[in-house]
Amino acid sequence: MSDEVAIVTGAGGGIGSETVRALLGDGRSVAAFDVSNDILEQIPSADSGRLLPLEVDVTDSGAVDAAFERVVAELGPPGTLVNIAGTNRVVSLADTTEQLWDLLIDLNLKGTFLCCKTAVPYMRQLGGGRIVNMSSIFGIRGEVQQTAYAASKAGVIGLTRALAIELAPDQILVNALAPVMTLTPRVAGLAADHKERQLSKIPLGRYGTVDDIVGTISFLLSEAGSFYTGQTFSANGGDTMP
Ligand SMILES: NC(=O)c1ccc[n+]([C@@H]2O[C@H](COP(=O)([O-])OP(=O)(O)OC[C@H]3O[C@@H](n4cnc5c(N)ncnc54)[C@H](O)[C@@H]3O)[C@@H](O)[C@H]2O)c1
Repeated sequence: MSDEVAIVTGAGGGIGSETVRALLGDGRSVAAFDVSNDILEQIPSADSGRLLPLEVDVTDSGAVDAAFERVVAELGPPGTLVNIAGTNRVVSLADTTEQLWDLLIDLNLKGTFLCCKTAVPYMRQLGGGRIVNMSSIFGIRGEVQQTAYAASKAGVIGLTRALAIELAPDQILVNALAPVMTLTPRVAGLAADHKERQLSKIPLGRYGTVDDIVGTISFLLSEAGSFYTGQTFSANGGDTMP
């Protein structure tokens, strides 16, 4: 698997940038998708021969198609896709505007769908592939002031399960991650009462770390992950027990 081409979306973010680093460290070539080049500049370029940073809005199907074509031309067909691009707001139902609903559903759910749909023909050509989609603990158990976000992330779990069944004959494995609160720079800036409420629900008594999540991604992309599909992996310190 070490020479595989991987695509990571949301690649300049807290979780995305560490995922890019881990996949480069495994010897993969990595196409790093993010919405702005400024953000992508934060990814270290030590492995630049195997790193292709691309400015892509994952909610724009034309931009996604064009980006995949560049990946194939410059790195080769992708056998791995890690959909991390996403965002959140802490906002009550009454203050959830139609515009905010559309933003969260488009980015968190439609963006994931578009990248999966575009990746699958290349994975079929390769005879198989791995897809990891970013959901959230809120997509499993819900949370106050998370209506649109929880709906988008529950949607990611449904999308993942349906794709896992449809794509199993092609040996394309599709799994979801549903982490508990993880203090990336974006999340560290959220309201204190929201963060404290999350911590109070975690029996292990700490927030998640980026390493907790990247470790799960590495497992799912490894040989040891070859019999898992349609699953939701929740790094959550005991917050939710299915
Ligand atoms: N940090 C947490 O506590 C936590 C918990 C559960 C799930 N998640 C999920 O993990 C993912 C990453 O979270 P994070 O904390 O690292 O956030 P982050 O904001 O640091 O990273 C998200 C990245 O997505 C990029 N992005 C935004 N819009 C985009 C678009 N239209 N096209 C392409 N890229 C776009 C951003 O520029 C950013 O670099 C998100 O999907 C989030 O919902 C995070």
